[in-house]
Order: sequence, then structure tokens, then C-alpha cells
Amino acid sequence: MCGIVGYVGPRPAQPILIEGLERLEYRGYDSAGIAVMHSDGVGITKNAGRIAALVSSLEGNGGYEGGTGIGHTRWATHGPPNTTNAHPHQDCSHDVAIVHNGIIENFQELKDKLIADGHEFVSDTDTEVLAHLLETMSELPLAEATRSMMKMVEGALAVAVVRREDPSLIVGARRGSPLIVGVGDGENYLASDISAILSHTKTMGVLEDDRVVEVTADGITVTDLDGAPIELATREIEWDLESAERGGFDDFMLKEIFEQPQALRDTLAGRINQRGEAELDIALSPQMARAFDKVFVVACGTSYHAGLMGKYAIERWTRMPVEIDIASEFRYRDPVVDGKTLVIGMSQSGETADTLAALQYAKAQGAYTLATTNVVDSSMAREADAVLYTRAGPEIGVASTKTFVCQLVVMQLLALYMAHHRGSLDDATIQLMTNAIARLPEQVDELLLSADEQLAIGRRHADVGDVFFLGRGVSFPIALEGALKLKEIAYTRAEGYPAGEMKHGPIALIEPGVLVVGVATASHLHLKTLSNMEEMKARGASLLMVVSEGDDESARIADELIYLPPAPELVSPVLSVVPLQLFAYAIAKQRGLDVDKPRNLAKTVTVE
Ligand code: M6R
Repeated sequence: MCGIVGYVGPRPAQPILIEGLERLEYRGYDSAGIAVMHSDGVGITKNAGRIAALVSSLEGNGGYEGGTGIGHTRWATHGPPNTTNAHPHQDCSHDVAIVHNGIIENFQELKDKLIADGHEFVSDTDTEVLAHLLETMSELPLAEATRSMMKMVEGALAVAVVRREDPSLIVGARRGSPLIVGVGDGENYLASDISAILSHTKTMGVLEDDRVVEVTADGITVTDLDGAPIELATREIEWDLESAERGGFDDFMLKEIFEQPQALRDTLAGRINQRGEAELDIALSPQMARAFDKVFVVACGTSYHAGLMGKYAIERWTRMPVEIDIASEFRYRDPVVDGKTLVIGMSQSGETADTLAALQYAKAQGAYTLATTNVVDSSMAREADAVLYTRAGPEIGVASTKTFVCQLVVMQLLALYMAHHRGSLDDATIQLMTNAIARLPEQVDELLLSADEQLAIGRRHADVGDVFFLGRGVSFPIALEGALKLKEIAYTRAEGYPAGEMKHGPIALIEPGVLVVGVATASHLHLKTLSNMEEMKARGASLLMVVSEGDDESARIADELIYLPPAPELVSPVLSVVPLQLFAYAIAKQRGLDVDKPRNLAKTVTVE
């Protein structure tokens, strides 16, 4: 997720772009840059780091006066967050400048061809491909070249482009990533979201997928990719600036729960090939995947729960033994790792001190280390031998939500990738699984359509005391995650437990009034989970159950039910966690708590 903004009109563009970027900083803050048209062509200033660094550079170089410009704040997906990789990007002749939000899936193929044709690339980004593609069509009007470019690229993208010979024009285009057109009086705007331009205009229109827009000071023209004109529907925005930054949601946490379908789409982009195999952009060759004889997963908090799900998937699909450890325990217990061990450090931030130290320890013992993280070039990404990124975009809420579901899918893909290369799973099953994984963004979208009902269930339980979250097999990590969400944002004592283990002690705590949340989606353990839930009910617990569509058996015993779309057992956790996030959220809100900044917690824990 990155933020883009554009302005064309009689006023100097620079302060408008900077203000817009500051409002978009929540979408990414690895680097920032602007391009402003001036008498000699396109002036570009860009910097690694936050917008403040860009502002100092502009103070240093005198900035720009021009009235046409584009800006970008980056959340790195391809290439480290340095100045070279910062946007805008340019072609060889420096005629074109482009900013981009999204992921171009076929960029390597396009880049190889452009390099073969003599183009010189300076950055590691996928975006630079777009500038060179436009250069190859410099004889065409910019909008026409952009339409052709859109037909050549696969993936999600929103772009804004300026070109030397069109000093009063910005061309925008969109597929899969947001782009808003702002309508002013003798001036117009482009932006990733409303907040970036709301202080200048309240009249806006959303650009639809596969549309190209030409924006000048006094005109906005939208076409489809064949050049046929399309009318832009505009409306008046009533939000204030603060709620616009949260996309109209009350909190970042709720916004991030609703961003999960897009985060999943971005994380999966280009990682399932035409044959239905997982294709991973990591330094872990098929030979290496075959050579490991053991896997360790080390992580903390929510990432630990994703790692635990990963253990189930890797063991089941690759038949390799997997150990999972809380990172702060791992390095002090003298674990047995050697050159044939793969140690996976999971961390959304990539900076958690305990997980980083565990990875360093494993590396020193000769293990091959893999980091999965959401932050490009984070300490873990740099420390590990290989890195597999989630692409959830920045997560502002302290409670992990969208990064968790993305961690789940990268673990599923990693397990399938290794299973394929180890020959431990047949092609048909791999395809079945990757098809199911590819459906997840849509299914989470579908599930979120009934978010209001799920939130209402949470609100009904706002005065709940102790809560047990129970699950078996792959639903156990989700039970742990449901309990952690409730603890951290609603300050409620909650325990996640394997349902079959309750009878060995904790069942003594079950009495009338205790709420038990059962994660009981379709699985080979379903009937066993139901028996365990019956045991809870028999002792007076009230049962809230998260089940798969069409599950009539659970309906017989549950007091309340949340139905999920169907998914294979090892894929289902991505769906079953969503209602538990909403459940915790609703209880916390009903209690008037700050869900984005819960007490005593920090988003990134860099102390041991
Ligand atoms: O950045 P990490 O994934 O390494 O963070 C690990 C934990 O600190 C984190 O998951 C924490 O438990 C969250 N607050 C969970 O919502």
C-alpha cells in the first residue's frame, strides 16, 4: 500500500502535494517524493524516510513553483526503502515521471524485454518498468500510451503520470488499487484517498478499474482502455479530515479488518502460477526445499499463532517435522538445529527483539533462516538468508489483523511450495489448495458483508467475564488468536485452549455464565470438537460457535452461530479469525476503549 496524490491548477503544486502526502502517510512511510513540471521539464525530489525528510530536501534545493505535479509516499514491496527506489520513477530520457500504488505481477518479464531493447534501469522497483514502457510510446498522446501500458501489465495498480511535453496534464489509471479524482474550481486533483485532498475540495469521483483519466486545470476526461469515453460519477463528501484518514471508519483497527481482502490480494499477487503451483519470490531453491529435514518456526504474539498454523500446514503437506517456539524461549533452551534445519522467523514488523535474536541464534548454529515480515528491509529481512514478504501495507492499529491473515497465506503457500518440490503432495491436491487460497480475498469480502451482525453479537457480550476460545487442529491457533485479541483490546480474561484438553483441568472453570467460543469449521476433527462443545454446554457454558455453512449439527447445540464460506481445513483459518477480530472489537468499543492504542502495548516490541 502506497499513497499517491496529484494536482493541476493555477496554484503552486508543491505545498498541495506535501499536505496530501502527509495525510496519506498512514499508507506508507518508507520514502516519499514529488515531481513538479517546470520550464525545463520535470523536477523531481525524493528521499528515503518520512515526508519530513522530503520537506527538508525541498527546503534545501529551493523546491518548485509549477502548478502541475504528482507525489508519492511508499510502503516498499519491491526493493529496499532507499532514495533510488523512492517514487516518482523515470524513463531513460527523463521525459516521463510516474508514481504507482500496487504490484505489477509480470514486471520481471517486461523488465527483461525492456533491458534487451536497451533500456537502463536504476531501481529495484516494479514501477520503473511503467516509465520505460511509456517511453517506448513517446510518439503517442500520453493518455493513449497509458491505455496501452495498462493492457501490457498484470496485477494491481493505480498510477499518476506526467510528461515533459504535456506540462499541464496528469494522466491517471487504475486497476485494483484505489484512485480518486477531485474536482476543484479551475483546478483538479488525483489521490489514493479522500483525506489527501479533502481540505481543497469536497467533490470527488472514484475511478473504476481499467479506466484512464486525463486531468487538466479545467477538464477531467475518463475513458476505458479502448479510449471510449466514460462519465465520471462525482459526489459531495461529508466526512471531516480525521474520519477521512481512517477511510470513514471509527478506528484504524476496523479499517484494517476491512482491508483484509485487499491485503490478501496483494500478498497473493503473482505467487500462484498458471499450473496452480505456489511460486515464491524467495531465495529458497527447490533443491534447498528438498534438503531440509526439519523446520522450526519462531515468533511472538499473533505471529506465533500464524506460525502454529504454519506448523500444521507444513507437517501435513511436506511430511517434515516442524517445531514451533515462542521466540523468547527458543534461544535460551539450546534447541537442536543444524545445517539441514530451516528456521522461519515470523514477524509483521520484522523488528521484534526476541524474534530477531532467535533468528540470529539459529543462523549462528548453521541453520538456514527465513524471515516472513510485512516490512521490506526490516532488521529480520536483512538478517535472514531468505525473506518472504506479506504485502498487507502498514498496520496502524496495535492489534494485528490484516498482517495476521497475510501471514497465514504465506505459510500456506510456503508449505505448498515445499510440498511440490519435495514431491510430498500430488499436483491435483496442490491445485485444489491453491484454488482455495486464491478464493480467500473474495470470501473474506463476502464474510465482511455480514460484519454488522457479527459486531452485534460482540456488543451483546459486552459485559462478559471470562471467555474460553476452543478449537482443535488448525482451529486451535485461531482460538489462541481470538483470545489474544480479546485480552489486548477489551482487557478481558480469555483463554485459548485445544478443545480436547479441557477435560484435563480447565473444565473445572466451566459453570453457568461462562462463555465458550468454539471454532468448529469443517475438518476431520469436527465431530470431536462438537463432543467437546457438548461437554461445555452440559456444565452450563453458553456456546458461540464459528462454523462452516450448512453445519446443522453445530446448530443443534450452539446458542449463537456465525457461518463461514466453505474452505479446505488448512485454508479455513483465514476465514475463521475474521469474526473473532470483530467480536473483540465490538466488546472493546462497547466498553469505550481505545482499540487502536490499547494500554501497556506497543506496535513493535524492540526490547527483550
Ligand atoms: O511485529 P511482530 O509480528 O513480531 O509482533 C509480535 C507481537 O508483538 C504482536 O503480534 C502482538 O502480539 C500484537 N499486539 C498482536 O495483536
